[in-house]
Order: sequence, then C-alpha cells, then structure tokens
Amino acid sequence: MSNNILVTGGAGYIGAITAWELVRAGYSVVALDNLSKGHREALPPDIPFVEGDIGDPKVVEEVLNVHKVGQVIHFAAFSLVGESVAQPWIYFENNLVKGTRFIETCVRNGVKNFVLSSTAAVYGDPVQVPIPETHPLRPKNPYGFSKLGLENVLESYHQTHGLNVAFLRYFNAAGADATGEIGEDHDPETHLIPIIFQTALKKREKVFVFGGDYDTPDGTAIRDYIHVTDLARAHIAVLEGMEKGLSHHAYNLGIGRGYSVLEVIREAQEVCGHEIPYEVAGRRAGDPPVLVADNRRFLDTFDWRPAYDSLRAILRTAWQWHKNYADGYAGGGDDAV
Ligand SMILES: NC(=O)c1ccc[n+]([C@@H]2O[C@H](COP(=O)([O-])OP(=O)(O)OC[C@H]3O[C@@H](n4cnc5c(N)ncnc54)[C@H](O)[C@@H]3O)[C@@H](O)[C@H]2O)c1
Repeated sequence: MSNNILVTGGAGYIGAITAWELVRAGYSVVALDNLSKGHREALPPDIPFVEGDIGDPKVVEEVLNVHKVGQVIHFAAFSLVGESVAQPWIYFENNLVKGTRFIETCVRNGVKNFVLSSTAAVYGDPVQVPIPETHPLRPKNPYGFSKLGLENVLESYHQTHGLNVAFLRYFNAAGADATGEIGEDHDPETHLIPIIFQTALKKREKVFVFGGDYDTPDGTAIRDYIHVTDLARAHIAVLEGMEKGLSHHAYNLGIGRGYSVLEVIREAQEVCGHEIPYEVAGRRAGDPPVLVADNRRFLDTFDWRPAYDSLRAILRTAWQWHKNYADGYAGGGDDAV
C-alpha cells in the first residue's frame, strides 16, 4: 500500500483547493466526489477523478486499491446548518451513516492516516472565547452532531485498529486560490463573503445582516475567517505529522482573530470599490454572537502559520475570484467587470 492521497469531496470548495495544493507540493492525489454539490472543473485536470459516492463500498474499494491509497482527507459532506435543522436525516445519512461506512471500507483496505473536515459547530454555544479544543462539545444542530458523531467513530477506529486520525475543526473558510481560478461556488450560497461580493456585482440586491443587537462592539456577530489555502496547507502539515508519528487529535483551524459582519462589509467595500447595500434583520436561531478559535494547539504542533493573516488579504483573493467568475463555474471565466 503506498501513500497516495484520496481527497473525498474533492470537487467542492475546500476539497478542490486542497487537491491543487497537494499537487503543487508534489503529492499523488485521487479525488472522489458524487458531484451532488461540487464542480468537476474546480479540480486539477490531470489528477484521477472518480465520480462516485462515499457510501458505496464497491466504488470506494476500487478507488483505494486501483490508486494505492494510504491516506485520506475526508471533505465529502453536506454542510448547511439550516437545512440540517429542517431535514436531520439527510445529514445523518450522508455525513454519519455513509461516513462511517466509508471509514470502515478505508480501514479494511489498508488506509493508515485519516484527516476529517470537522467544524466549530461541534462546540455549540461557546462558554469560553477564544474557543479551545477542550471546550465542551455540545452541538446545537444536526450538522454539528453529524460531525461530532464521525469524530467519535474515528476515535473508535483509532483505538481498535490503530488508524491515525485528526479532526480539523474549521471556523469560517474564506477566500480563493491565488490564481483567481478556483473559489467558492455553493448553491444556495449561505456564506457571508460570497454573498457580499455577489451583491457588489449586482447579483443580489443587498446583504442581510442577521442580528444587530448582539453584545459585540457594533452589535453584529463576530467570526474567525481562515483563508482556504491556509486550510489546505494545514491538511498537508497534518498528514506529514502523521508520517512522523502523530496519531490522534482534534485541532481548531482559525486565525485566532474575529471580525464582525459590519467590519467584513466595510473592508470588502474598500477592496472592491463598490457600495454594498445591507439591511439588518433578526438574529438566526442558534447563531452565537462570537466564534473565534484558540488555535494555539495547531500552531504549537505544526510548522504552519497562516499566509493570509489579515481580513483584507483574504478578501482580495475572494474578490478576484468573484470578478472572474461572477456566475460561478457554470458562467465560465469571462465575466470580469
Ligand atoms: N466552508 C466552511 O467554512 C466550512 C466550515 C467548517 C467545516 N466545513 C467542512 O468542510 C468540508 C468541505 O466544505 P466545503 O465548503 O468545501 O463544502 P462543498 O459543499 O463545497 O464540498 C463538499 C463536496 O462533497 C461532495 N459530497 C457530498 N456528499 C457526498 C457523498 N456522499 N459522496 C461523495 N461526495 C459527496 C459534494 O458534491 C461537494 O463537492 C465539509 O465537510 C464541511 O462540513 C466547511
């Protein structure tokens, strides 16, 4: 069994950019995605791509054996919090049931290192900010529960089968590849920065700011934005750590600094030079006022520092992508304004 890397959900936002970073770093990569949400064109064109489902053991077994996979980065999941509240089963089925079957198939076929895309949603309402990994794990929605469930499944395979596991709990992934050719294209889009730039490009009338009466300096919610390329490189650092003996742990991935919704809108206006109309609406149920990572465990363990350490640097890359692809991948790259 060799050390080739399988990236599930490779046609998605973070998966595709991670695949590019892996290829740029000289790794041999295969991507698996059922294209329920992703975009084939986001992936490096010259890596093997398999259109298939993580819950299909035959497909997974074939991918693992044909491509001699020894390591897995598992991004494939559904991740819309509101949708998970409305339809918990599709989240438990896709993320947890299929995810567990996928892990079992990986273990039976010799995978030794497994990195899971987890989320700050496993913490629920913070009782301490910045949030350390030791914070109580009390998700507030089925999406968060599905990810915490998969962390537990992996912990169990670590104990029983010696699988090396890492749970990377991302805060808010943001920005785009430095080329401006790969970026965020979700449908529906629920993330603040793409919504802001779609508004700047007149694809939307305005940005709805959910909650203007939080106990924060300007009343709007504060989040920790981490650049998607920094996230991608963090996965590589973890896999390299596993080769040197790292066996299991949870890590927060954020830059350790928060920005309010209004701060993000203001900075984005300066980056793109367009007025961004917004309207303050009611709070969304379950949205905590502040989510900021205590990222010291990751910084202390790995030789990794965020290359994009300011909101402005993150926004510049996002704006470049949205300018180039105002209608996402489907619109091609000729929409520059
Ligand atoms: N984007 C964020 O800010 C953020 C924050 C925390 C955690 N995460 C986690 O990171 C991961 C990637 O997020 P993203 O924003 O790139 O999402 P995304 O929706 O862009 O990518 C997920 C990909 O997984 C694929 N997929 C879903 N179910 C599948 C299945 N059963 N079989 C095969 N492929 C399947 C989709 O087609 C899609 O291409 C997810 O697990 C998400 O929960 C994301």
